[in-house]
Amino acid sequence: MAVSDSGLATPVSPRVRAKTAPLFTWSPALEAEMAPLYARVKHIITPMEWPHYAPLIKSINALKAQRNAVILAHNYMTPEIFHCVADFRGDSLQLAKEAARTNAKVIVQAGVHFMAETSKLLSPEKTVLIPDMRAGCSLASSITPEDVRMLREAYPGVPIVTYVNTSAAVKAECDITCTSSNAVQVVESLGVPRVLCIPDQYLAKWVQSQTKVQVIAWKGACEVHERFTGEELRAMRADEPGLKIIAHPECPPDVIEAADFTGSTSGMINWVKDKRPRKVMLVTECSMASNVAVEVPDVEFIRPCNLCPHMKRISLENIYESLVHMQYEVTVDPDVAERARRAVERMVNLTN
Ligand code: 13P
Ligand code: SF4
Repeated sequence: MAVSDSGLATPVSPRVRAKTAPLFTWSPALEAEMAPLYARVKHIITPMEWPHYAPLIKSINALKAQRNAVILAHNYMTPEIFHCVADFRGDSLQLAKEAARTNAKVIVQAGVHFMAETSKLLSPEKTVLIPDMRAGCSLASSITPEDVRMLREAYPGVPIVTYVNTSAAVKAECDITCTSSNAVQVVESLGVPRVLCIPDQYLAKWVQSQTKVQVIAWKGACEVHERFTGEELRAMRADEPGLKIIAHPECPPDVIEAADFTGSTSGMINWVKDKRPRKVMLVTECSMASNVAVEVPDVEFIRPCNLCPHMKRISLENIYESLVHMQYEVTVDPDVAERARRAVERMVNLTN
């Protein structure tokens, strides 16, 4: 039995094999060499599973060197990706900044499609790969460029701030992007009384609670965070005395009201590392707790969480295939890219 990302004990099921055989195979020598990496994930990966992962991890790390590639991993990646093959880990803003900074020739985005597009916008000369093109986002698919043009007509002169969780084509129609870690700063930087903040209605509501600027929202929502309820959180508190609850701003307002802290994924991780609560519940995607747990062994994680089906499309197996076959390349139409880049760079320069 193992503790899965849902926090429940589940029978170990055999993992899907990579289609291409790994460069390395399991052996006592490999086991010894990989022991320090196993130490970082042994709270979540069983000794039975490790012989499957270890050869893939070694193969991915060797291929990265051959290809001059880096892996940018979002905080929602599973622990074997996050701790064993990622070169940079972080929230959307940190990954965007890293994409602009890296000297590598190839970026493998261990995250969702809008993140890979952002990397391509900031590093147009690099090859940006995503291991599964289907890794989307309910927020990104909630709004189109035509919708943004319609908003411009309806609200003439009102600047449009778009969450990075949108397509490049949507960003190209907007004035500036924001992430969950800088949304309030971005909105206030514009120096106007009213802004449109798209597409996440809950992020917009949270920003509104933090600023005097009037924030006009779109109707999008994250399918992972909108499932949490304030009632569920209050019930958890009643069951777990001393529990601290921290939430992502994509959650509905009653959830944020019931939480002790609200912040981006990295903001939440830093809060746990800094405050060291005895017991904590991260109201967000399941893998976050697994990833941070290794760094704070004194903290107990209470784990009702929701999985993001899009983030979970990325696996060690398809990262390996991605580096072997240089697939799947993310490109952005040059005209769209030029306009979208302006909106992203304006945000990055503001927060640098
Ligand atoms: P962060 O920028 O906080 O990492 O959020 C990205 C995301 O998709 C959360 O659902
Ligand atoms: Fe999109 Fe929500 Fe998944 Fe983040 S967690 S990628 S916002 S669907």
